[in-house]
Amino acid sequence: MDAQKVDHDHEEAHRLIQRENKFYAKSARMDYYDLVIDHAHDATLVDVDGNEYIDVLASASAINVGHTNEKVVKAIQDQAAKLVHYTPGYFHHQPEQELSERLAKLVPGSPKQVTFGNSGSDANDAIIKFSRAYTGRPYIVSFMDSYHGSTYGSMTLSGVSLNMTRKMGPLLPGVVHVPYPDLYRRLPDETVHDVAMRYFEEFKQPFETFLPADETACVLIEPIQGDGGIRKAPEEFMQLVYQFCHENGILFAVDEINQGMGRTGKMWSIQQFKDIEPDLMSVGKSLASGMPLSAVIGKKEVMESLDSPAHLFTTSGNPVCCAAALATLDVLDEKKLLEKSVEDGEYVKKRFLKMQQEFEEIGDVRMYGLDGGIELVTDKESKTPNTDFASKVIYYAFQHGVVIITLKGNILRFQPPLVITRAQLDKVLDVLEAAFKAVENDEVTLPEGKIGW
Ligand SMILES: Cc1ncc(COP(=O)(O)O)c(C=O)c1O
Repeated sequence: MDAQKVDHDHEEAHRLIQRENKFYAKSARMDYYDLVIDHAHDATLVDVDGNEYIDVLASASAINVGHTNEKVVKAIQDQAAKLVHYTPGYFHHQPEQELSERLAKLVPGSPKQVTFGNSGSDANDAIIKFSRAYTGRPYIVSFMDSYHGSTYGSMTLSGVSLNMTRKMGPLLPGVVHVPYPDLYRRLPDETVHDVAMRYFEEFKQPFETFLPADETACVLIEPIQGDGGIRKAPEEFMQLVYQFCHENGILFAVDEINQGMGRTGKMWSIQQFKDIEPDLMSVGKSLASGMPLSAVIGKKEVMESLDSPAHLFTTSGNPVCCAAALATLDVLDEKKLLEKSVEDGEYVKKRFLKMQQEFEEIGDVRMYGLDGGIELVTDKESKTPNTDFASKVIYYAFQHGVVIITLKGNILRFQPPLVITRAQLDKVLDVLEAAFKAVENDEVTLPEGKIGW
């Protein structure tokens, strides 16, 4: 494959983007490359110039069952013809009733209740509201490098980008951030147990110095950090934090917006850990295959701590979105996508581990089902993030028909629709391998401007 060869013509895309740039505010897009999507199916995207790409992003893990899945599209069409919306603030409709019951039953343990919203961000705001209401306590603990959303509450909870706080403060009071365990950059001779203990000590530090545990409402964690680089906390760390919460009457809440809905090979990523029953869980993105719907699923007694209209939106629990969600849940089951995620994830991991032996820049390979973070560094010894290398790899991939982006500048984000075929995975891996070679040989030049976050 010729490294600099641009397989695709992007004339129409460039024209449309130039025009759009006059009207579309820059706060809402991280620019990677000029892709204007016209239509898509399963894991294939087609742009306005007729170029085809394999999607390794799944609309930021929002399309786990694949683009325009027939069953989901039909559910949307049928429901739209029947009832587009009636606000659940006053009356009831069946898609919302059916979905509440189904989601409540999808989280094991004690009885659950559900509330709906329009975005993952508002679901995390709800976690703040319910946990404060239930405990009567003000403080919330979340993690550095987390992404929880873009509303005031959820961006306060986040800890991954200065642009999410800069110029917009003051943020929500009472939120404290603690470090999320990094198993890749360990101290010399540290074992997994040592890392878990070191980070648990750091977790406890605020509680020993300025944060009264008996005034803390909740700890919110991504069981696997998404935008933080697809990083899974060590089992022991998670268990210790969970136990600490229980001992201190603090609610344990998980954000499953990015990692839930089968992404990691389990329905919820917290199920990657042993016997943890969260008090509250936020879900969104793939819940309704990208239609605007989020949910908080929580223990019944916690969810009963607020009275209406403490948490409702005119358009939340939209029947068309709920119908899409019900169909999405069916498709996950029918196509056995959780099992597929595990199998394909192992397959992909093997290929990346092989490439890791060949390329000095592949520092860490993290795969949890079809959920991967491939960390690119200047060299394996220093582990210095190699943003330039990563940007060139994804640019090369784009030029050769693969849509993949980076996290934190230097980590490849591997989150295709779970329906991606083996042949497509093979092509993606071949293109990435060729990209690593081409970038190592200095054969890739980036276009002007910043790529990514
Ligand atoms: C873990 C996590 N939580 C919350 C959100 C926010 O969801 P939304 O963008 O739908 O508001 C995201 C979005 O990327 C996410 O990855």
